[in-house]
Amino acid sequence: MSIQEAHSSRRKDLQDLRDLPRSPFMSFLQKQAPPKAPRPSVLKQQPSKYPKISAFFSREVFKWITEYLSHRFGPRHDFLDYAGTGADNGVYQLQGDGGVIRIALAGDWGTGTDEADRVARQISAFQPNYSIHLGDVYYVGTLAEVNENFLGIKNPDNDYAPCLWPSGSQGTFSLNGNHEMYARGIAYFDNMLPTLGPVVNGRAQGQRASFFCLENEHWRFIGLDTGYNSVGWPILEEIFPPSCALPSELVDWMRSVVRPNPNDTRGIVILSHHQYFSAFDKWYPKPAQQLAEFFSRPFLWFWGHEHRMTVYKEWGVPGNIKTFGRCIGNGGMPVDLPPATPKHPECPVEFVDRRVYQNDENLQIGFNGFTRLVVQGNRLTAEYVDLNGAVLFSETWSVDGGNLTRIAPKTGP
Ligand SMILES: [Fe+2]
Repeated sequence: MSIQEAHSSRRKDLQDLRDLPRSPFMSFLQKQAPPKAPRPSVLKQQPSKYPKISAFFSREVFKWITEYLSHRFGPRHDFLDYAGTGADNGVYQLQGDGGVIRIALAGDWGTGTDEADRVARQISAFQPNYSIHLGDVYYVGTLAEVNENFLGIKNPDNDYAPCLWPSGSQGTFSLNGNHEMYARGIAYFDNMLPTLGPVVNGRAQGQRASFFCLENEHWRFIGLDTGYNSVGWPILEEIFPPSCALPSELVDWMRSVVRPNPNDTRGIVILSHHQYFSAFDKWYPKPAQQLAEFFSRPFLWFWGHEHRMTVYKEWGVPGNIKTFGRCIGNGGMPVDLPPATPKHPECPVEFVDRRVYQNDENLQIGFNGFTRLVVQGNRLTAEYVDLNGAVLFSETWSVDGGNLTRIAPKTGP
């Protein structure tokens, strides 16, 4: 076994995160399933089919209920905005090297698995000026989980090696996901964000809020928070799922600070945790309805939440804005293979990664990966890369007079 394998095998297994429900109550249950130390490889190869059920029948049921009650009940963390932060209004000038700006994006990465660590190594090898996580630190975004699955801080209560989200040389950001909010967003706002943010004189200044804009004369990358309103009242939220609406403070910031308008001819790239639409999964159209106030031209939109890598043709929910949607929620969770028959065939898929990832846990899953963005003048190239560094799909966009034109789509390297 190589040094790298010996090191990576001390991280968590994908089998414990399989079929994780989008339910706070059940996420707190599945959190109890993993063993306290990495499995020997012989056990790893025989995954339980039902990680949730094994948690239910373990001695951890009492812990499940007490953790759910202690983390889930109580007010959410205050929604932070840029009021009172002096000159920091959440809009930052993009900085690169010699006119080239490299941005790494990954969604749903915060799992602490061997695969998340391999994605992190690929991101580091890209030497990004900016790294942006699209949200979700599992299982429920508690302080211990934020530490071990994002900030690279060892959890003294288990024997797993932690995972560290790779920094960008000019800035590191993280969006808010539903799983951060399952513990009311407290560790996300109080412990994660202060370590991130734009870099000034070699030091991260702290990410003051869960939304931001990175821009230059050609492009605007706008990170949004669809996670804060993805939870509601405990128990009731399981029956009546919240809409993931953008908080009013964020909409006010768009109106008063970002101020998109038809005369602004820069290319728009939206980043969010939840998907606007999906051919295979649930839709979250509310944030797009709110964005209709600001944008009259189609824009690029990268999202996560769904654990797949999918490129869509230009599309929008009927009566709502049109976008070029890119699902990249394949950062660290077990990746769902696309079904033969999509749930929503009206969503026009241009590319979806259907490859089966050969893994040491005998799971029938897809590949983890991330997206490399390179900004050069009015050109933006996106490469969709897997955990081995293989490019699955690439495309270059040009912005002229506010309109996006795609120059060179390509499947494979
Ligand atoms: Fe999510």
